[in-house]
Amino acid sequence: MADWQKSDWRAKPRVQMPEYTDDAELKAVEAKLASYPPLVFAGEARRLKAQLGAASRGEAFLLQGGDCAESFEQFSADGIRDTFKVMLQMAMVLTYGAKVPVVKVGRMAGQFAKPRSAPIETVDGVELPSYRGDIINELDFTPESRIPNPNKMLQAYTQAAATLNLLRAFSTGGYADVHQVHSWTLGFTEGEKATKYRDMANRISDTLDFMKAAGVTSDRLHSLQTVDFYTSHESLLLEYEEALTRLDSTSGKWLAGSGHMIWIGDRTRQPDGAHVEFARGVQNPIGLKCGPTTTADDLKVLMEKLNPENEAGRLTLIARFGAGSVGDHLPRLIKAVQEEGANVLWTCDPMHGNTIKSATGYKTRPFDSVLREVREFFGVHKAEGTIPGGVHFEMTGQDVTECTGGVRAVTEEDLSARYHTACDPRLNASQSLELAFLVAEELSDRDHAKAAAAV
Ligand code: PEP
Ligand code: CO
Repeated sequence: MADWQKSDWRAKPRVQMPEYTDDAELKAVEAKLASYPPLVFAGEARRLKAQLGAASRGEAFLLQGGDCAESFEQFSADGIRDTFKVMLQMAMVLTYGAKVPVVKVGRMAGQFAKPRSAPIETVDGVELPSYRGDIINELDFTPESRIPNPNKMLQAYTQAAATLNLLRAFSTGGYADVHQVHSWTLGFTEGEKATKYRDMANRISDTLDFMKAAGVTSDRLHSLQTVDFYTSHESLLLEYEEALTRLDSTSGKWLAGSGHMIWIGDRTRQPDGAHVEFARGVQNPIGLKCGPTTTADDLKVLMEKLNPENEAGRLTLIARFGAGSVGDHLPRLIKAVQEEGANVLWTCDPMHGNTIKSATGYKTRPFDSVLREVREFFGVHKAEGTIPGGVHFEMTGQDVTECTGGVRAVTEEDLSARYHTACDPRLNASQSLELAFLVAEELSDRDHAKAAAAV
Protein backbone atom coordinates (compact mmCIF):
# COMPACT_ATOMS: atom_id res chain seq x y z
CA MET A 1 0.00 0.00 0.00
CA ALA A 2 1.72 3.14 -1.25
CA ASP A 3 0.14 5.60 1.18
CA TRP A 4 0.87 3.54 4.28
CA GLN A 5 3.73 3.19 6.76
CA LYS A 6 3.79 0.60 9.53
CA SER A 7 4.02 3.35 12.17
CA ASP A 8 1.04 5.40 10.87
CA TRP A 9 -1.24 3.99 13.57
CA ARG A 10 0.69 6.06 16.13
CA ALA A 11 -1.03 9.23 14.91
CA LYS A 12 -4.50 7.74 15.42
CA PRO A 13 -6.60 7.47 18.58
CA ARG A 14 -5.84 4.22 20.36
CA VAL A 15 -7.87 2.26 22.87
CA GLN A 16 -7.16 -0.87 24.95
CA MET A 17 -3.40 -0.41 24.76
CA PRO A 18 -1.04 -0.09 27.75
CA GLU A 19 0.71 3.13 28.74
CA TYR A 20 4.31 2.03 29.18
CA THR A 21 6.15 4.08 31.76
CA ASP A 22 9.75 3.65 30.60
CA ASP A 23 10.05 4.93 27.07
CA ALA A 24 13.72 3.99 26.64
CA GLU A 25 13.01 0.41 27.68
CA LEU A 26 10.07 0.23 25.25
CA LYS A 27 12.20 1.56 22.37
CA ALA A 28 14.95 -0.98 23.12
CA VAL A 29 12.45 -3.86 23.01
CA GLU A 30 10.93 -2.61 19.76
CA ALA A 31 14.39 -2.35 18.17
CA LYS A 32 15.28 -5.87 19.25
CA LEU A 33 12.01 -7.33 17.94
CA ALA A 34 12.44 -5.48 14.68
CA SER A 35 15.83 -7.17 14.23
CA TYR A 36 14.41 -10.69 14.79
CA PRO A 37 13.11 -12.92 11.98
CA PRO A 38 9.39 -12.77 11.20
CA LEU A 39 7.40 -15.76 12.47
CA VAL A 40 5.44 -16.32 9.26
CA PHE A 41 6.09 -15.72 5.59
CA ALA A 42 4.16 -13.89 2.92
CA GLY A 43 3.65 -16.97 0.73
CA GLU A 44 1.90 -18.71 3.63
CA ALA A 45 -0.38 -15.76 4.29
CA ARG A 46 -1.26 -15.61 0.59
CA ARG A 47 -2.05 -19.33 0.51
CA LEU A 48 -4.31 -18.92 3.54
CA LYS A 49 -5.99 -15.97 1.84
CA ALA A 50 -6.74 -18.11 -1.21
CA GLN A 51 -8.21 -20.83 1.03
CA LEU A 52 -10.37 -18.31 2.89
CA GLY A 53 -11.52 -17.02 -0.48
CA ALA A 54 -12.66 -20.55 -1.26
CA ALA A 55 -14.48 -20.66 2.10
CA SER A 56 -16.28 -17.42 1.25
CA ARG A 57 -17.68 -19.17 -1.85
CA GLY A 58 -18.71 -22.28 0.11
CA GLU A 59 -15.88 -24.33 -1.40
CA ALA A 60 -14.10 -24.71 1.94
CA PHE A 61 -14.94 -24.12 5.61
CA LEU A 62 -12.91 -22.27 8.25
CA LEU A 63 -12.26 -23.74 11.68
CA GLN A 64 -10.55 -21.16 13.89
CA GLY A 65 -9.91 -22.01 17.52
CA GLY A 66 -7.67 -22.01 20.54
CA ASP A 67 -7.09 -20.22 23.82
CA CYS A 68 -8.75 -16.97 24.74
CA ALA A 69 -5.31 -15.94 25.96
CA GLU A 70 -2.12 -17.94 25.70
CA SER A 71 -0.27 -18.08 28.98
CA PHE A 72 3.45 -18.02 29.81
CA GLU A 73 2.94 -20.20 32.85
CA GLN A 74 0.87 -22.90 31.15
CA PHE A 75 3.10 -23.10 28.07
CA SER A 76 3.88 -26.75 27.34
CA ALA A 77 4.34 -29.13 24.43
CA ASP A 78 1.47 -31.30 25.69
CA GLY A 79 -0.89 -28.34 25.79
CA ILE A 80 -0.09 -27.38 22.20
CA ARG A 81 -0.28 -30.99 21.03
CA ASP A 82 -3.68 -31.58 22.65
CA THR A 83 -5.30 -28.45 21.21
CA PHE A 84 -3.81 -29.22 17.80
CA LYS A 85 -5.12 -32.78 18.01
CA VAL A 86 -8.65 -31.76 18.98
CA MET A 87 -8.71 -29.23 16.15
CA LEU A 88 -7.73 -31.96 13.68
CA GLN A 89 -10.45 -34.22 15.06
CA MET A 90 -13.00 -31.43 14.75
CA ALA A 91 -11.80 -30.73 11.22
CA MET A 92 -12.28 -34.37 10.28
CA VAL A 93 -15.87 -34.32 11.52
CA LEU A 94 -16.54 -31.00 9.77
CA THR A 95 -15.05 -32.21 6.51
CA TYR A 96 -17.48 -35.10 6.61
CA GLY A 97 -20.45 -32.78 7.04
CA ALA A 98 -19.36 -30.02 4.68
CA LYS A 99 -17.87 -32.22 1.95
CA VAL A 100 -15.30 -29.51 1.41
CA PRO A 101 -11.79 -28.97 2.82
CA VAL A 102 -11.57 -27.46 6.28
CA VAL A 103 -9.10 -24.61 6.72
CA LYS A 104 -7.50 -24.88 10.15
CA VAL A 105 -6.39 -21.73 11.93
CA GLY A 106 -5.24 -21.74 15.57
CA ARG A 107 -5.69 -18.91 18.04
CA MET A 108 -2.10 -19.76 18.82
CA ALA A 109 1.51 -18.55 18.63
CA GLY A 110 0.70 -14.92 19.36
CA GLN A 111 -2.70 -14.73 21.09
CA PHE A 112 -1.40 -12.93 24.17
CA ALA A 113 -2.90 -9.43 24.39
CA LYS A 114 -6.41 -8.94 25.75
CA PRO A 115 -8.92 -6.10 25.51
CA ARG A 116 -10.84 -5.68 28.77
CA SER A 117 -14.32 -4.39 29.46
CA ALA A 118 -13.07 -2.46 32.52
CA PRO A 119 -9.67 -0.76 32.92
CA ILE A 120 -9.73 -1.33 36.69
CA GLU A 121 -10.31 -4.55 38.62
CA THR A 122 -11.67 -4.37 42.16
CA VAL A 123 -11.19 -7.20 44.67
CA ASP A 124 -12.35 -6.79 48.27
CA GLY A 125 -12.32 -3.02 47.88
CA VAL A 126 -8.79 -2.94 46.42
CA GLU A 127 -8.51 -1.39 42.95
CA LEU A 128 -5.75 -2.30 40.49
CA PRO A 129 -5.29 -1.90 36.73
CA SER A 130 -6.81 -4.86 34.85
CA TYR A 131 -4.77 -7.79 33.60
CA ARG A 132 -4.23 -7.37 29.83
CA GLY A 133 -2.58 -10.62 28.85
CA ASP A 134 0.87 -12.08 29.48
CA ILE A 135 2.48 -9.99 26.75
CA ILE A 136 1.57 -6.85 28.77
CA ASN A 137 1.31 -7.52 32.53
CA GLU A 138 0.64 -10.32 35.03
CA LEU A 139 -2.51 -11.95 36.35
CA ASP A 140 -1.48 -11.85 40.04
CA PHE A 141 -3.49 -9.26 41.92
CA THR A 142 -0.60 -7.09 43.15
CA PRO A 143 0.32 -3.53 42.12
CA GLU A 144 3.73 -4.63 40.70
CA SER A 145 2.21 -7.44 38.60
CA ARG A 146 -0.17 -5.09 36.88
CA ILE A 147 2.48 -2.64 35.66
CA PRO A 148 2.88 -3.05 31.88
CA ASN A 149 6.36 -4.33 31.09
CA PRO A 150 7.62 -4.09 27.48
CA ASN A 151 10.15 -6.90 28.01
CA LYS A 152 7.21 -9.30 28.06
CA MET A 153 6.98 -8.81 24.29
CA LEU A 154 10.31 -10.60 23.93
CA GLN A 155 9.08 -13.57 25.93
CA ALA A 156 5.88 -13.64 23.87
CA TYR A 157 7.94 -13.68 20.67
CA THR A 158 10.06 -16.58 21.95
CA GLN A 159 7.00 -18.56 23.03
CA ALA A 160 5.25 -17.87 19.72
CA ALA A 161 8.33 -19.04 17.80
CA ALA A 162 8.57 -22.25 19.83
CA THR A 163 4.82 -22.88 19.47
CA LEU A 164 4.96 -22.38 15.73
CA ASN A 165 7.97 -24.67 15.48
CA LEU A 166 6.04 -27.45 17.21
CA LEU A 167 2.92 -26.84 15.11
CA ARG A 168 4.95 -27.02 11.92
CA ALA A 169 6.46 -30.33 13.11
CA PHE A 170 3.06 -31.78 14.07
CA SER A 171 1.55 -30.66 10.77
CA THR A 172 3.91 -32.77 8.72
CA GLY A 173 4.32 -35.62 11.19
CA GLY A 174 1.22 -37.70 10.33
CA TYR A 175 -0.12 -36.80 13.70
CA ALA A 176 -3.87 -37.06 13.37
CA ASP A 177 -4.86 -40.66 13.05
CA VAL A 178 -8.26 -40.52 11.44
CA HIS A 179 -8.82 -44.18 12.32
CA GLN A 180 -9.39 -43.09 15.91
CA VAL A 181 -12.73 -41.55 14.99
CA HIS A 182 -14.66 -44.05 17.15
CA SER A 183 -12.78 -43.27 20.31
CA TRP A 184 -13.66 -39.60 19.86
CA THR A 185 -17.34 -40.32 20.51
CA LEU A 186 -16.85 -42.48 23.61
CA GLY A 187 -18.11 -39.80 25.95
CA PHE A 188 -21.36 -39.50 24.01
CA THR A 189 -23.21 -42.33 25.67
CA GLU A 190 -26.89 -41.47 25.69
CA GLY A 191 -29.67 -39.98 23.74
CA GLU A 192 -30.57 -39.16 20.21
CA LYS A 193 -27.54 -36.92 19.75
CA ALA A 194 -25.14 -39.67 20.80
CA THR A 195 -26.72 -42.05 18.29
CA LYS A 196 -26.45 -39.48 15.53
CA TYR A 197 -22.79 -38.78 16.31
CA ARG A 198 -21.94 -42.47 16.50
CA ASP A 199 -23.69 -42.94 13.16
CA MET A 200 -21.56 -40.22 11.66
CA ALA A 201 -18.41 -41.77 13.13
CA ASN A 202 -19.47 -45.12 11.64
CA ARG A 203 -19.87 -43.56 8.25
CA ILE A 204 -16.47 -41.86 8.48
CA SER A 205 -14.83 -45.11 9.45
CA ASP A 206 -16.70 -46.98 6.64
CA THR A 207 -15.33 -44.47 4.19
CA LEU A 208 -11.83 -45.05 5.53
CA ASP A 209 -12.29 -48.84 5.29
CA PHE A 210 -13.42 -48.43 1.71
CA MET A 211 -10.40 -46.30 0.90
CA LYS A 212 -8.15 -48.90 2.47
CA ALA A 213 -9.78 -51.71 0.50
CA ALA A 214 -9.30 -49.66 -2.63
CA GLY A 215 -5.59 -49.40 -1.85
CA VAL A 216 -5.61 -45.85 -0.48
CA THR A 217 -4.23 -46.00 3.05
CA SER A 218 -3.60 -43.06 5.29
CA ASP A 219 0.15 -43.62 5.21
CA ARG A 220 0.03 -43.39 1.44
CA LEU A 221 -2.42 -40.55 1.30
CA HIS A 222 -0.24 -37.52 1.62
CA SER A 223 -3.15 -35.21 2.36
CA LEU A 224 -4.11 -37.19 5.48
CA GLN A 225 -0.56 -37.12 6.73
CA THR A 226 0.30 -33.51 6.36
CA VAL A 227 -2.05 -30.66 7.10
CA ASP A 228 -1.98 -26.95 6.55
CA PHE A 229 -2.26 -25.35 9.94
CA TYR A 230 -2.16 -21.58 10.30
CA THR A 231 -1.84 -19.21 13.25
CA SER A 232 -3.87 -16.15 14.20
CA HIS A 233 -4.35 -13.68 17.01
CA GLU A 234 -5.97 -10.37 17.83
CA SER A 235 -3.76 -7.58 16.56
CA LEU A 236 -4.08 -5.51 19.72
CA LEU A 237 -0.61 -4.61 20.94
CA LEU A 238 0.49 -2.51 18.01
CA GLU A 239 4.07 -1.91 19.17
CA TYR A 240 4.59 -5.68 18.89
CA GLU A 241 2.79 -5.88 15.54
CA GLU A 242 4.69 -2.99 14.02
CA ALA A 243 8.06 -4.36 15.13
CA LEU A 244 7.34 -7.67 13.37
CA THR A 245 5.99 -6.10 10.18
CA ARG A 246 8.20 -6.67 7.14
CA LEU A 247 8.25 -5.70 3.51
CA ASP A 248 7.76 -8.79 1.34
CA SER A 249 10.25 -8.57 -1.49
CA THR A 250 8.20 -10.79 -3.84
CA SER A 251 5.08 -8.65 -3.83
CA GLY A 252 6.44 -5.35 -2.56
CA LYS A 253 3.65 -5.42 0.06
CA TRP A 254 3.81 -5.28 3.83
CA LEU A 255 3.25 -8.39 5.94
CA ALA A 256 2.41 -8.65 9.64
CA GLY A 257 5.07 -11.23 10.47
CA SER A 258 3.51 -12.08 13.85
CA GLY A 259 0.96 -14.62 12.53
CA HIS A 260 -0.76 -15.72 9.34
CA MET A 261 -4.10 -14.09 10.09
CA ILE A 262 -4.75 -11.20 12.45
CA TRP A 263 -8.07 -9.86 13.61
CA ILE A 264 -9.52 -6.65 14.97
CA GLY A 265 -11.54 -7.04 18.17
CA ASP A 266 -15.03 -5.80 18.90
CA ARG A 267 -13.63 -3.06 21.15
CA THR A 268 -10.96 -1.75 18.78
CA ARG A 269 -12.74 -1.54 15.43
CA GLN A 270 -13.22 2.26 15.34
CA PRO A 271 -13.00 3.12 11.61
CA ASP A 272 -10.59 6.02 12.34
CA GLY A 273 -8.71 4.31 15.14
CA ALA A 274 -5.19 2.94 15.42
CA HIS A 275 -6.07 -0.75 15.03
CA VAL A 276 -7.90 -0.35 11.74
CA GLU A 277 -5.10 1.89 10.49
CA PHE A 278 -2.52 -0.79 11.19
CA ALA A 279 -4.48 -3.71 9.71
CA ARG A 280 -5.40 -1.93 6.51
CA GLY A 281 -1.77 -1.75 5.40
CA VAL A 282 -0.66 -5.37 5.74
CA GLN A 283 -1.44 -8.04 3.19
CA ASN A 284 -2.44 -10.80 5.68
CA PRO A 285 -6.00 -12.09 5.84
CA ILE A 286 -7.83 -9.85 8.32
CA GLY A 287 -10.63 -10.81 10.69
CA LEU A 288 -13.12 -8.25 11.96
CA LYS A 289 -15.32 -9.00 14.95
CA CYS A 290 -18.90 -7.85 14.43
CA GLY A 291 -21.01 -7.42 17.55
CA PRO A 292 -24.43 -6.00 18.41
CA THR A 293 -23.04 -2.43 18.30
CA THR A 294 -21.59 -2.76 14.78
CA THR A 295 -23.61 -0.43 12.58
CA ALA A 296 -24.22 -1.02 8.88
CA ASP A 297 -22.56 2.33 8.10
CA ASP A 298 -19.43 1.51 10.10
CA LEU A 299 -19.25 -1.89 8.47
CA LYS A 300 -19.39 -0.32 5.02
CA VAL A 301 -16.55 2.08 5.87
CA LEU A 302 -14.53 -0.73 7.42
CA MET A 303 -14.96 -3.00 4.39
CA GLU A 304 -13.78 -0.21 2.12
CA LYS A 305 -10.77 0.56 4.33
CA LEU A 306 -9.74 -3.00 5.00
CA ASN A 307 -10.43 -4.46 1.58
CA PRO A 308 -10.44 -1.64 -0.98
CA GLU A 309 -9.68 -4.07 -3.82
CA ASN A 310 -12.50 -6.38 -2.75
CA GLU A 311 -10.16 -9.33 -2.74
CA ALA A 312 -11.69 -12.72 -1.83
CA GLY A 313 -10.28 -14.15 1.41
CA ARG A 314 -8.91 -10.83 2.61
CA LEU A 315 -11.73 -10.04 5.03
CA THR A 316 -13.43 -12.43 7.44
CA LEU A 317 -16.41 -11.05 9.36
CA ILE A 318 -16.60 -12.84 12.69
CA ALA A 319 -20.18 -12.54 13.98
CA ARG A 320 -20.49 -12.59 17.80
CA PHE A 321 -23.93 -11.40 18.81
CA GLY A 322 -25.01 -13.83 21.54
CA ALA A 323 -27.66 -16.54 21.47
CA GLY A 324 -31.08 -15.05 20.86
CA SER A 325 -29.66 -11.93 19.15
CA VAL A 326 -28.30 -13.24 15.86
CA GLY A 327 -31.61 -12.61 14.09
CA ASP A 328 -31.59 -8.99 15.31
CA HIS A 329 -28.19 -8.15 13.84
CA LEU A 330 -26.87 -10.54 11.24
CA PRO A 331 -29.53 -9.80 8.58
CA ARG A 332 -28.86 -6.03 8.68
CA LEU A 333 -25.10 -6.59 8.33
CA ILE A 334 -25.56 -9.14 5.54
CA LYS A 335 -27.64 -6.48 3.79
CA ALA A 336 -24.82 -3.94 4.18
CA VAL A 337 -22.39 -6.41 2.63
CA GLN A 338 -24.75 -7.06 -0.26
CA GLU A 339 -25.36 -3.35 -0.87
CA GLU A 340 -21.60 -2.88 -1.26
CA GLY A 341 -21.17 -6.02 -3.36
CA ALA A 342 -18.36 -6.85 -0.93
CA ASN A 343 -16.50 -10.15 -0.87
CA VAL A 344 -16.41 -11.38 2.71
CA LEU A 345 -16.20 -14.65 4.56
CA TRP A 346 -18.87 -14.94 7.28
CA THR A 347 -17.93 -16.94 10.36
CA CYS A 348 -19.59 -17.45 13.73
CA ASP A 349 -17.94 -16.83 17.12
CA PRO A 350 -20.56 -18.22 19.53
CA MET A 351 -18.35 -17.54 22.56
CA HIS A 352 -18.02 -13.81 23.17
CA GLY A 353 -21.70 -12.93 23.18
CA ASN A 354 -22.50 -15.69 25.67
CA THR A 355 -20.29 -15.01 28.66
CA ILE A 356 -22.08 -14.93 32.02
CA LYS A 357 -21.14 -14.98 35.68
CA SER A 358 -22.15 -18.27 37.33
CA ALA A 359 -23.80 -18.46 40.74
CA THR A 360 -20.46 -19.77 42.01
CA GLY A 361 -18.73 -16.57 40.84
CA TYR A 362 -16.89 -17.95 37.80
CA LYS A 363 -17.06 -16.40 34.36
CA THR A 364 -18.61 -19.13 32.23
CA ARG A 365 -20.49 -19.91 29.02
CA PRO A 366 -23.41 -22.32 28.92
CA PHE A 367 -22.78 -24.89 26.20
CA ASP A 368 -26.45 -24.65 25.19
CA SER A 369 -26.10 -20.93 24.41
CA VAL A 370 -23.02 -21.66 22.31
CA LEU A 371 -24.94 -24.31 20.34
CA ARG A 372 -27.94 -22.03 19.99
CA GLU A 373 -25.92 -19.18 18.54
CA VAL A 374 -24.31 -21.53 16.00
CA ARG A 375 -27.76 -22.78 14.94
CA GLU A 376 -29.09 -19.23 14.65
CA PHE A 377 -26.09 -18.24 12.53
CA PHE A 378 -26.71 -21.11 10.10
CA GLY A 379 -30.45 -20.39 10.15
CA VAL A 380 -30.05 -16.72 9.18
CA HIS A 381 -27.66 -17.56 6.35
CA LYS A 382 -30.07 -20.16 5.07
CA ALA A 383 -32.93 -17.66 5.12
CA GLU A 384 -30.81 -14.97 3.42
CA GLY A 385 -29.33 -17.32 0.85
CA THR A 386 -25.78 -16.44 1.96
CA ILE A 387 -22.88 -18.64 2.95
CA PRO A 388 -22.01 -19.59 6.55
CA GLY A 389 -18.32 -20.12 5.93
CA GLY A 390 -16.71 -20.94 9.26
CA VAL A 391 -16.65 -21.05 13.04
CA HIS A 392 -14.43 -19.42 15.65
CA PHE A 393 -14.13 -21.02 19.10
CA GLU A 394 -12.28 -20.57 22.36
CA MET A 395 -11.27 -24.12 23.17
CA THR A 396 -8.50 -26.29 24.51
CA GLY A 397 -7.46 -29.92 24.24
CA GLN A 398 -7.30 -30.09 28.05
CA ASP A 399 -10.10 -31.49 30.18
CA VAL A 400 -10.95 -28.16 31.80
CA THR A 401 -14.21 -27.17 33.52
CA GLU A 402 -14.79 -23.62 32.26
CA CYS A 403 -17.99 -23.78 30.17
CA THR A 404 -21.06 -25.45 31.68
CA GLY A 405 -23.03 -28.23 29.98
CA GLY A 406 -22.14 -30.63 27.20
CA VAL A 407 -22.56 -34.40 27.20
CA ARG A 408 -20.30 -34.78 30.19
CA ALA A 409 -22.44 -32.12 31.86
CA VAL A 410 -20.13 -29.68 33.62
CA THR A 411 -22.23 -28.01 36.35
CA GLU A 412 -21.76 -24.62 38.00
CA GLU A 413 -20.43 -26.45 41.06
CA ASP A 414 -17.85 -28.24 38.87
CA LEU A 415 -16.34 -25.02 37.51
CA SER A 416 -13.80 -24.68 40.33
CA ALA A 417 -12.35 -28.16 39.70
CA ARG A 418 -10.22 -27.37 36.64
CA TYR A 419 -10.72 -23.70 35.80
CA HIS A 420 -7.38 -22.78 34.22
CA THR A 421 -8.06 -20.11 31.61
CA ALA A 422 -6.01 -16.93 31.74
CA CYS A 423 -9.04 -15.02 30.49
CA ASP A 424 -12.36 -16.26 29.03
CA PRO A 425 -13.84 -19.74 29.59
CA ARG A 426 -12.95 -22.30 26.89
CA LEU A 427 -14.69 -25.39 25.60
CA ASN A 428 -12.90 -28.54 26.74
CA ALA A 429 -11.94 -31.36 24.36
CA SER A 430 -15.26 -33.19 24.71
CA GLN A 431 -17.39 -30.06 24.32
CA SER A 432 -15.33 -29.04 21.27
CA LEU A 433 -15.93 -32.35 19.55
CA GLU A 434 -19.62 -32.30 20.40
CA LEU A 435 -19.85 -28.87 18.85
CA ALA A 436 -18.02 -30.09 15.75
CA PHE A 437 -20.64 -32.81 15.31
CA LEU A 438 -23.41 -30.23 15.58
CA VAL A 439 -21.76 -27.93 13.06
CA ALA A 440 -21.23 -30.93 10.77
CA GLU A 441 -24.98 -31.57 10.87
CA GLU A 442 -25.71 -27.95 9.96
CA LEU A 443 -23.12 -28.21 7.21
CA SER A 444 -24.55 -31.33 5.68
CA ASP A 445 -27.75 -29.32 5.47
CA ARG A 446 -25.81 -26.60 3.64
CA ASP A 447 -24.38 -29.26 1.33
CA HIS A 448 -27.86 -30.63 0.59
CA ALA A 449 -29.19 -27.14 -0.08
CA LYS A 450 -26.30 -26.56 -2.49
CA ALA A 451 -26.97 -29.88 -4.24
CA ALA A 452 -30.68 -29.06 -4.52
CA ALA A 453 -29.90 -25.63 -5.96
CA ALA A 454 -27.63 -27.22 -8.56
CA VAL A 455 -30.34 -29.60 -9.86
C1 PEP B 1 -11.53 -12.53 21.78
O1 PEP B 1 -11.68 -13.05 20.66
O2 PEP B 1 -10.86 -13.05 22.69
C2 PEP B 1 -12.24 -11.26 22.06
C3 PEP B 1 -11.88 -10.46 23.04
O3 PEP B 1 -13.31 -11.09 21.27
P1 PEP B 1 -14.22 -9.79 21.01
O4 PEP B 1 -13.31 -8.74 20.51
O5 PEP B 1 -15.16 -10.30 19.96
O6 PEP B 1 -14.90 -9.47 22.29
CO1 CO C 1 -11.96 -14.33 24.63
